[in-house]
Amino acid sequence: MKKNNITSLTEMKNHGEKISQITCYDFSTAKIFDEAGVNSILVGDSLGMTMQGYEDTLPVTMDEMIVYGRSVGRACKNAFVVVDMPFMSYQASAEQAVMNAGRIMKECQANCVKLEGGKSVCKQIEAITACGIPVCAHVGMTPQSVNSFGGFKVQGKGENNARRVLEDALAVEKAGAFMVVLECVPPKLAALITKKTNMITIGIGAGAGCDGQVLVYQDMLAMSGDFTPKFVKKFADIGEQMKKAVTEYDEEVKAGTFPKEENTYPKSDCSDEFLAKLDREYKDFEVQL
Ligand code: KIV
Repeated sequence: MKKNNITSLTEMKNHGEKISQITCYDFSTAKIFDEAGVNSILVGDSLGMTMQGYEDTLPVTMDEMIVYGRSVGRACKNAFVVVDMPFMSYQASAEQAVMNAGRIMKECQANCVKLEGGKSVCKQIEAITACGIPVCAHVGMTPQSVNSFGGFKVQGKGENNARRVLEDALAVEKAGAFMVVLECVPPKLAALITKKTNMITIGIGAGAGCDGQVLVYQDMLAMSGDFTPKFVKKFADIGEQMKKAVTEYDEEVKAGTFPKEENTYPKSDCSDEFLAKLDREYKDFEVQL
């Protein structure tokens, strides 16, 4: 299979083929998702919540994104790797945005960077794309602005807000973004944006009218606790399966039924005579440090 790239993904949009994207943050899981055949993996700053246990994405740093991003970058033979720019790694200036986007590309084997915002980040998108770095934008509910929104709320409700989200999408396209995440946007508005733009639209809580979909993997595999946003479908109960497996392991270790002979290396053992000799020799042995 050839690695997904900007051209192949854009062709998929143009042919009406849907694009699959999923979040991921580590090597072994990314390898599984890559082999499963998803078109794209997003190293989202949602890792602040899913991997680090914060309440929102704001505390995530550039250095942390690099650590998670490069673990995923190394695993992906097929999937197009998108790495998020964390809060305050691009907002201050176009120069700051370019330096940090460049770091992500150099250190993570990423194929593109993602940043949140509409008109307000167009200068940054222009500057990053001018360096040959593809940009995925992110409009609608942008989690880094949770404090301005007063919570994780659907955006684009009502005529004025719908106009604002559409204008943000058109602005990031003009600035050079080739892909845009539409998060928590009403479905007809998301479909309209998809129709009006050449960018690839990736929806999350934005209905089926987008060019593709993204989900946070811990949500869709039931690994993220009790709260599940309305837009998430649980495709498997991996959280429960992990709990069951670890409970069994715990019980077997405590009962002495694990490990069994087949889980050890008996052929590498010395003779019983030699081991008995060792036992005698080391009876009163004192370790000298
Ligand atoms: O950080 C993230 O995982 C994201 C997705 C929710 C789109 O931005």
